[in-house]
Amino acid sequence: MTVVAHISDIHFGREVPEIVTALLADLAAASPDVVVISGDLTQLGSHGEFTAARAFLDRIAAPYVVVPGNHDIAAFPLWELFFAPFTRWRRYITQGLAPEWSNAAVLVKGVNSARPFGPYLNWSRGRIAPAQIAAVATAERDPRVLVVTAHHPVAYGDDTGHDYDLVTRGDALLATLAKRSRSLILLGHRHRSHASLWSPAAGERTAATGAAMARDDVLIVHAGTATSDRLRGQVNSWNLITLAGEGVEIEMRQYASGSWATASRLELFWSGL
Ligand SMILES: [Fe+2]
Repeated sequence: MTVVAHISDIHFGREVPEIVTALLADLAAASPDVVVISGDLTQLGSHGEFTAARAFLDRIAAPYVVVPGNHDIAAFPLWELFFAPFTRWRRYITQGLAPEWSNAAVLVKGVNSARPFGPYLNWSRGRIAPAQIAAVATAERDPRVLVVTAHHPVAYGDDTGHDYDLVTRGDALLATLAKRSRSLILLGHRHRSHASLWSPAAGERTAATGAAMARDDVLIVHAGTATSDRLRGQVNSWNLITLAGEGVEIEMRQYASGSWATASRLELFWSGL
């Protein structure tokens, strides 16, 4: 059994201090094997926010895999934005932009989808490079469960009123994950928790508890904002994901009335592998 804590969109600069403190205690109590953090650790990418993010990471006892979000690229100074957008990320958070963690049953791979600019109007939109998809494809024959994390959405889920575009080449990443059995992708950006299944033939559909997942189904999991006041129709949340054999359990932890508690539980299993 491997326990993965999936947290996202911490947004130091817009964090709620008591929720940060309570989250660290909730994470410690869950005692995960690994913490996956799907981006937006800061609000503006300032040195002060990155310092707070660093202190937060230092208080997590478990190993963690962390990737940047669009908010982790500072807009100023401009030379840094254009020529060295991940300087602060590398200085405060981690050197690597393709972090990994693994044990005997699970392989976690981080994919950096944040970009300072691109051939589109929405500055916050992300992009995945062909080389990053090739790096994920190296796990095609790996017998372990594959957990990929990135910041930007590859599918809209339950978000019908979205004001963002899907990440460039997210469809190619999904197609790559569908070539192997037992793949999950853990995402952020939407500030809304949701789980869905995607396969090349059926497309995306909501994941209902008890559902069987086929060999080419990819389980897409979005985390809400764990600690910020930038709520979009949901309270703060994070996901506690338990992987055991052919089963996956996603426990959504919500912060309400001053404490963290389990708000929903989704149980799925792979069949016919
Ligand atoms: Fe965010």
